[in-house]
Amino acid sequence: MTSYKELGLVNTKELFKKAVSGGYAIPAYNFNNMEQIQAIIQACVETRSPVILQVSSGARKYANQNILKNMAKGVVEYAHELGYDIPIVLHLDHGSSFELCKDCIETGFSSVMIDGSHFPYDENVALTRKVCDFAHSQKDYVTVEGELGVLAGVEDDVSSEHSHYTQPSEVIDFVSKTKVDSLAISIGTSHGRAKFKPSQCTRTPDGILIPPPLRFDILEEIEKKLPGFPIVLHGSSSVPIEYVHMIEKYGGKLTDSVGIPEEQLRKAAKSAVCKINIDSDGRLAMTAIIRKILVEKPEEFDPRNILGPARDELKKLYSHKNQNVLGSAGQA
Ligand code: G3H
Ligand code: 13P
Ligand code: ZN
Repeated sequence: MTSYKELGLVNTKELFKKAVSGGYAIPAYNFNNMEQIQAIIQACVETRSPVILQVSSGARKYANQNILKNMAKGVVEYAHELGYDIPIVLHLDHGSSFELCKDCIETGFSSVMIDGSHFPYDENVALTRKVCDFAHSQKDYVTVEGELGVLAGVEDDVSSEHSHYTQPSEVIDFVSKTKVDSLAISIGTSHGRAKFKPSQCTRTPDGILIPPPLRFDILEEIEKKLPGFPIVLHGSSSVPIEYVHMIEKYGGKLTDSVGIPEEQLRKAAKSAVCKINIDSDGRLAMTAIIRKILVEKPEEFDPRNILGPARDELKKLYSHKNQNVLGSAGQA
């Protein structure tokens, strides 16, 4: 049993309070490997941003939970070495069971998500409450994110063809019965690089898909019901068209890619949305640079000369998000 405080990590409690009153969102970036976590920390230290490092079940399977935990511990020292101690959260993304959340808490995670959104309402409440009771009774309080409403696309072990928007009429009951510290909602975002079907979008003359707007009306209703309560947006990659074009130029095929426009995320970050989840954009940035190098330098076979520039591009992407989209720069 390790407490996150021994690793130099923090939970989300204070970070969310400041983010809600300050009108910005904390970046929640997924990581699976060393280059990703280095880029996240370099960008967040340079921009003086707090950060949530997210581990999905897929990441646990790929990289091993203990390795990931020790990487998070390592980057607390790395940030210090880079010259600035930013607040760092280690968070389980889309926890699918009580046992998984408990295991992560006992490993040293400072925050967990229990995703019961695909269960009937009462089961979601009971499961989320069970995780909160366990997490909150630890010697060092672990924060819990719950979810109401379903996002289209793949959420780790859970996938859904259609999204079901969060019903504002349920949020007060859910939050008071479960005791969650933050609530993920569904207002039109979804996971992955193709967030809408082309039939839901319009197209520019050069064929670029323009998505329908997020349901800010639902967000506003939720904020009225739960004033100042921390809200989370999943599926918030913008799917930059430059990366999609670069990947396709160098042999990839990513038909009908479309994300959430940055202005809409900026608008959401100014509201009670205080955590914005981004994974796919990082995947696109890395893949674009890796494909470019492999095509342009066929003689290259040192992975450091391939993954190093991909890491630099990732850092650029995360710095941009912190400064221009989430508004978290300067808040650490
Ligand atoms: O919510 C999904 C995240 O992007 C994690 O994806 O399960 O492929 O690691 P993954
Ligand atoms: P994206 O696929 O839009 O990056 O969303 C990531 C996410 O929500 C992780 O939980
Ligand atoms: Zn998610």
